[in-house]
Amino acid sequence: MRTFQQVSAMRAYMRAVREDRRSVGFVPTMGALHEGHLSLIRRARGDCDVVVVSIFVNPSQFGPNEDFSRYPRDLSRDSRLTQEAGVDALFYPEVEEIYPPGFQTFVEAPQIAKRWEGEMRPGHFRGVATVCVKLFHIVQPDRAYFGMKDYQQLKVIERVVSDLNIPLTVVPCPTVREPDGLAMSSRNVYLDAASRSSSLTIHRALKRVEELHEQGELSASVLEKTMHDILRSDPAIQIDYAVIVDSETLEPVESLEKKGVALIAVRIGSTRLIDNLVLGGKLALPVKNHA
Ligand code: PAF
Repeated sequence: MRTFQQVSAMRAYMRAVREDRRSVGFVPTMGALHEGHLSLIRRARGDCDVVVVSIFVNPSQFGPNEDFSRYPRDLSRDSRLTQEAGVDALFYPEVEEIYPPGFQTFVEAPQIAKRWEGEMRPGHFRGVATVCVKLFHIVQPDRAYFGMKDYQQLKVIERVVSDLNIPLTVVPCPTVREPDGLAMSSRNVYLDAASRSSSLTIHRALKRVEELHEQGELSASVLEKTMHDILRSDPAIQIDYAVIVDSETLEPVESLEKKGVALIAVRIGSTRLIDNLVLGGKLALPVKNHA
């Protein structure tokens, strides 16, 4: 595996790859790799000739009171995992390499980024969109792989790539879960035993909503109330939001006539967790009357 810290060296390697007409799959990460990241890498490995992974804990997507400084970092472990996963090139720049003095250009997709995480974490998606566009320009991949666990992030990136005509395909990949249902996240290491056990309530709420939806429940308010009731049953959980929204616009819906998504964000102690579940794609069964 080749490793690069400088933009110029990374670009030179990518130029050679493109001259050989080899297809490139790119997996941007902030490190602290887990099975979710490895599933993206495996998917890229299956699809493309060359796989590039970036590890960069991006300061511009963290708010002033967020966990930038304590975000888990273990480059030697991550480097071993990427090597074992068959990654061809690992890009792990320093902050100054990505944001040199004088840096002042940012990318925003204000509508899709407005609600939910965008509201809870002002500036977050501006930072994500900006770093992703920079990384896309540096690597120039054919495909970029994003987990559906960060559903709004995925939609922001799809919007930016489309709006700016960036010539790559965004490949959404399913959320990878622990055997008990907790969505894998680098932040799960913050959970102590009690919080870890509370975190399962999130999955329970989503599964119940899925069950009700499969039984024909289309009312967003009924499904949202179900999530709230289940989440509130655990006193350790503080709800930031638990909503049913349109799966493309992320705007609230009244009824799940079209494909929707249940989005949850909670705080358990000092740890913030998000998860989601896409509902539909297929038409729901008998419509219930709530009159
Ligand atoms: O999902 C992440 O790990 C980050 O938000 C990303 C996409 C690597 C941008 O920093």
